[in-house]
Amino acid sequence: MTPLTEQNLRTLLTTRTVGRHLRWYAELGSTNQEALRLVQEGCPDGTVVIADAQTAGRGRLGRTWHSPAGCNLYCSVVLARAPRPERLAEWLSWIPLVSGVAASEAVAAVAGLRPMLKWPNDILIGDRKVGGILCESSGVPSAPAVVVGIGLNLNGSRETFPSELARVATTVEAEIGRPVDRTRLAAELLSHMEVRLDELLARGAERLATEYRARCATLGKTVLAQLAEGQELVGVADTVGPTASLTVRSVQDGSRRELRAADIVHLRA
Ligand code: BTN
Repeated sequence: MTPLTEQNLRTLLTTRTVGRHLRWYAELGSTNQEALRLVQEGCPDGTVVIADAQTAGRGRLGRTWHSPAGCNLYCSVVLARAPRPERLAEWLSWIPLVSGVAASEAVAAVAGLRPMLKWPNDILIGDRKVGGILCESSGVPSAPAVVVGIGLNLNGSRETFPSELARVATTVEAEIGRPVDRTRLAAELLSHMEVRLDELLARGAERLATEYRARCATLGKTVLAQLAEGQELVGVADTVGPTASLTVRSVQDGSRRELRAADIVHLRA
């Protein structure tokens, strides 16, 4: 097991750009917050911020991210690339989902299992969450920089989670029965992020969308969607469309609703 240090990660890194500018911290408020600050300073594309612990880890929809020291991975990747203007909207809407594919591939490579994704990008093992992704934008509208923040629960038992997470979350170690090498996992993650995001930039989302759908555990399930306006919708998750939205067919009246942002709960297959 290689301890997760800046030096050990640099030794394992095989990427061309992602992680070549690496900032490693023993503790930060939030790696996303630090990455957004670095964007303001003009840091290069592919800059990566990693912290061993976060004191104010941010989750989606205003939640916090449980971030103890010494066991997990908390990392943020800065994407400051310039897709062609006609591809900008597609690029922005698919970054979170494609990052989910990359994170699930990295866990698969190190742990030998096939994590699935809950739309848009929760990483699941079985029906428990092992990781999450929070994308935040900065920069000017025509040339936005996106910070992709990835949190993966790697080592430790489920009993170490706070009570509200113990029922729904897991760690890779709890699933495979042995601890995970965090340095290897980090190197794999950055490598898969580079490959998948290069592919998204060069060829667009079509082929990646097919791969995403094959890994998306939400499709075909009856779901409860908690919408931004406080409304709820129960329906069957039909498709993830070309703009990365999720179409849900209401169980009440059969109407279809295209969701761009929502919290999804899987109810049944
Ligand atoms: C979610 O709610 O599912 C998204 C969680 C994202 C957590 C990661 S940990 C690294 C990065 N820094 C943060 O503050 N949040 C993200």
